[in-house]
Amino acid sequence: MLKVDGVSFEANGKKILNNVSLEMRKGEVRGLLGPNGSGKTTLLDLIAGVKKPSGGSITVEGEIGYLFQFPERNIFAENVFDEIAFWARNKKMSQINDRVRNVMSSVRLDFNGFYKRSPFLLSYGEKRKVSIASILIGEPDLILFDEPDAGLSKKSMEDLIYTIREYSEKGISFLIVSHNLVFLSKITDKIDILLNGRVEFEGQFEECCELCRKLHYKPPFECELILNFPEIFTKFKNS
Ligand SMILES: Nc1ncnc2c1ncn2[C@@H]1O[C@H](COP(=O)(O)OP(=O)(O)OP(=O)(O)O)[C@@H](O)[C@H]1O
Ligand SMILES: [Mg+2]
Repeated sequence: MLKVDGVSFEANGKKILNNVSLEMRKGEVRGLLGPNGSGKTTLLDLIAGVKKPSGGSITVEGEIGYLFQFPERNIFAENVFDEIAFWARNKKMSQINDRVRNVMSSVRLDFNGFYKRSPFLLSYGEKRKVSIASILIGEPDLILFDEPDAGLSKKSMEDLIYTIREYSEKGISFLIVSHNLVFLSKITDKIDILLNGRVEFEGQFEECCELCRKLHYKPPFECELILNFPEIFTKFKNS
């Protein structure tokens, strides 16, 4: 449902992506890992059509929902209800009220407590939840998540994992940028590693750990632990 074929991107004479290819099937959850500046956000911008590639081609079957890396880029409405309802109203969907309630419950946001509030005055994690709900309501075929886990509490992380599982089972595909291998290992079918503008690796979580060690690429925080003890971690993978 997604085919990125030999895509390159240049900005100000600098090659940011160089011959990147990846394919995803319907309902797949794919992780995208890579150090700061490796071109992850650029790749999502290209897939979403926010930027145009300087070479190669991108084909997507269906609609895309895009959670930007920075929460403020996602929000604009006066209250949470209008923010979340926007895409559904645009698509002239029926029963907007029920749909808003549904997606708010998916991301564990209390309807009565939040629907009237300004999205700009919410906490970071709450803004993230509102933005995710505003994407889910549009029923896209492919969801691009740029670091959806950044800054989330453990509880909110668990909610996010639950939401991603719930929607991927409905056939929605996810391409998820994150630095957190623990998070990615719980939800992804496969992981791609971007290094220096190229896909240096594509495969399962366990081999990904191997390669990170070999490349001396260290994703942050508790990921160190699983890089060193992948066998222990495998136990928790499907918890
Ligand atoms: N419009 C632009 N003009 C010039 N350089 C740019 C532009 N946009 C991005 N870059 C550069 O492209 C490279 C890749 O940036 P990108 O934001 O895609 O990285 P990233 O992998 O998402 O990083 P992070 O993990 O920090 O979010 C960086 O070196 C960045 O400085
Ligand atoms: Mg980025």
